[in-house]
Amino acid sequence: MTDRRPPAYELSIPAQAPNLPGEVVVADTVEELVERMSSDLLTHSLNCWRAFGDFHMAVSGGSTPAPFYRHLMTDPICRGVPWKKTHLWCVDERRVSVTDEKSNWRMIEDHFGVHSGIPRSQQHPMEALSDRIEHEYAKALRAALEWRERGQDRLDYVLLGLGADGHTASLFPHSPALSEDGRLIRINSGPTVVPPDRVTMTLPLINSARFVAVMVTGEAKQEIVQRLAANAHARIEDLPIRGVRPVGGILRWYLDRAACEACA
Ligand code: 6PG
Repeated sequence: MTDRRPPAYELSIPAQAPNLPGEVVVADTVEELVERMSSDLLTHSLNCWRAFGDFHMAVSGGSTPAPFYRHLMTDPICRGVPWKKTHLWCVDERRVSVTDEKSNWRMIEDHFGVHSGIPRSQQHPMEALSDRIEHEYAKALRAALEWRERGQDRLDYVLLGLGADGHTASLFPHSPALSEDGRLIRINSGPTVVPPDRVTMTLPLINSARFVAVMVTGEAKQEIVQRLAANAHARIEDLPIRGVRPVGGILRWYLDRAACEACA
């Protein structure tokens, strides 16, 4: 006689989370990961919008966040993000024109540009070829946030990626912008900066944010995730991501299982 009992309830055992500073979310697949990221972003953006009347998010380029951006633009639940009240900022940029295929903004705009409903005047590309970009982008940030109460005038959400050398944003190991402790935006160049030269948000700006999300996926990131987990006291000059420590905000890592397999 065949067994007609329903299959035993399948518990999905969460992947072991590597030892990283802040909160760590591990999902089995990129799809599950971006669902979780989207739901966190939805909640956070609504809270900020209710508290401040708008929402300021800064996003990264690179290949990792593309599935997240796609999900944000296609999942009906994400229509609840207050897009019309959202300002979109660029974490870092290559010093090329925004129409160049290496431009981060080009990739960001492909996803958010027309689909999100964010008014054009609230989308803030980095004009990275301008010699005054450090000053201009910092000024634009201050102007957009200045009407908020002092102390609340900071970015609400910053999405970062992680390079195999431990860089984040365009803050590369031993590069000049990494040690910036005053200015919000810096041009960055030097032997460790993967060409072309960059413009980047600095650690003081990133660390003032209300919520910093670091998205890391895929086997190619196993080694750097393991290195980070094993070197809690590594120097920021060697592993720039170690400098990401929001002062009064949340730091949440989003990893897929493939990226942290080596730590299990
Ligand atoms: C960029 C980034 C950079 C990126 C990492 C990871 O412009 O390239 O802002 O910090 O997030 O290099 O890149 P991948 O997602 O392509 O691995």
